[in-house]
Amino acid sequence: MATQPRLLPAGAVAIAEAKALILAGRPVAVPTETVYGLAADAGDGEAIARVYEAKGRPSFNPLIVHVHDAGEAGELAEWNATADRLARAHWPGPLTLVVSRRADARLSSLAAAGLPTIALRSPAHPWFRELLEAVDRPLAAPSANPSGTISPTRAAHVLAGLGKKIELIVDGGVCRHGLESTIVAVDGANVRLLRPGPIDLGLPLALAGDVQAPGQLASHYAPDKPLRLDAESARQDEWHIGFGSICGDTNLSPSGDLVEAAANLFDLLHGADASDRLGIAVAPVPARGLGMAINDRLRRAAVPLG
Ligand code: TXA
Ligand code: MG
Repeated sequence: MATQPRLLPAGAVAIAEAKALILAGRPVAVPTETVYGLAADAGDGEAIARVYEAKGRPSFNPLIVHVHDAGEAGELAEWNATADRLARAHWPGPLTLVVSRRADARLSSLAAAGLPTIALRSPAHPWFRELLEAVDRPLAAPSANPSGTISPTRAAHVLAGLGKKIELIVDGGVCRHGLESTIVAVDGANVRLLRPGPIDLGLPLALAGDVQAPGQLASHYAPDKPLRLDAESARQDEWHIGFGSICGDTNLSPSGDLVEAAANLFDLLHGADASDRLGIAVAPVPARGLGMAINDRLRRAAVPLG
């Protein structure tokens, strides 16, 4: 296990180094357009086990498998007309489709945590797409953070969270969306929203009666400090994250732009967690459009880890 990972900018050298590590079964932290991911060969059970180990992730929590395009998805899953329509409209991009996996798919069962379904996404990030082409196989990649903590939107977040556990971090700068992908389950013609995200399909969030996606667990993405929501102002010893005209110590978006707020959310939570204050207060964020996904993450971050 590396004690200090290498950091390489997202270019040709990083493609070659990341490819060599991944083909040798070693996970690599990579930039995507949503959040940083910890990528490994989806068909290599030992590599997937190393991903779970690095994240300290409960083994029931399955991973998203990243593919180059819908054709590759069809080799892994029972691809139907509904999945194809959604992929045509939103791939490459921040939409993950949970579909039935094919019995003959070359996939480690650990990646899907033993489920008969598989979560598939074709990422838009140009460097990550180049890596998928170079390795020529699907890559499983959860967010590159210790399980249950705030997702990383910069290489520095990955270094702080997983630095001692991985060998290479590829630095692609700040993630464009800054929020994990929207996840939907496709069952025949039926589509259910499991996790809100950058793509708004106008669906209500499915009830988490049986935990379909652990992203639906009450506590997730949590900072170490107590988090108070809908705070117009901060109490003594709280770091205040503002929105719009509520300035705060830092501000998700001074102009009240929800796209900008989503991109800044995890970065400002990391910053607040690292401050010398004892708690974190966040200004109200309107629950429309991307604000739904932002409020979803904030509500879970406000529930302490068990
Ligand atoms: O934007 C993203 O989706 C990022 C980047 C790296 O692509 N990845 C990400 O992965 O957020 P992760 O592992 O942190 O979240 C994956 C979510 C989990 O909540 C997991 O439970 C759910 O996807 N999931 C994976 N496979 C599933 C399946 N077969 N059925 C239901 N949910 C599934
Ligand atoms: Mg995650």
